[in-house]
Amino acid sequence: MNYIVTKTYDELSKKAADIIAAQIINKPKCVLGLATGSSPVGTYKQLIKYNKEGTVDFSTVTSVNLDEYVGLDGTNDQSYRYFMNDNLFNHVNIDKSKTFVPSGLAKDLKAEGEAYDNMIKELGGIDLQLLGIGLDGHIGFNEPDKYFVKATHEVKLDESTIKANARFFEKEEDVPKTAITMGMMSIMQAKKILLVANGKAKKEIVEKAFFGPIDPMVPASILQLHPDVTVIFSEE
Ligand code: F6R
Repeated sequence: MNYIVTKTYDELSKKAADIIAAQIINKPKCVLGLATGSSPVGTYKQLIKYNKEGTVDFSTVTSVNLDEYVGLDGTNDQSYRYFMNDNLFNHVNIDKSKTFVPSGLAKDLKAEGEAYDNMIKELGGIDLQLLGIGLDGHIGFNEPDKYFVKATHEVKLDESTIKANARFFEKEEDVPKTAITMGMMSIMQAKKILLVANGKAKKEIVEKAFFGPIDPMVPASILQLHPDVTVIFSEE
């Protein structure tokens, strides 16, 4: 594992954006796995800057996102589709028809999960997967459990996740209770993983996940088995 500690969030964002930019430059037709949440916002800002300056071209990039809330459609400003459009896709020259987010509106979420995993497989897998980490150690919305879940699946969000994400909603009751998330198989089959974690509150879980035992109760700990992981942690 490549473990990088930066002093500031800006430094973290720049390093993460540089790694993603290098991926796109090395393989313009790459598949990027993308994340939402507050941690990657700075990374996306930096990538937008590189795109506007002409350093990074998104025109042949395909993206697959990790997760979506169940019941929210893409026009809802709390949905992860909306987040991605707002924080990245609307500002770079990516072809939106090649940006994928699992559907939280699918009637049959099991079938949606299977179709999502098959699509990733058909795309040739993920070249670089960007991840954040939840305070309970979740990646995507793979919450602590007795075992690691392989496939893209519906998940009941933990109380701590609902509380943590309430900051994006008007009231805690508005946070959806379930989501659909990419499972561990598609994440672990990504050729490269880049995890960004920001702030003192994440220190303990980052230490547990990367320097403790591999334990499905700390979902991110499975990444210790991946051959190419970079973790960037900002102390700010
Ligand atoms: C978001 C996602 C989540 C977040 C995690 C950290 O697509 O998959 O795992 O990365 O909840 O969120 P922030 O960055 O807001 O602390």
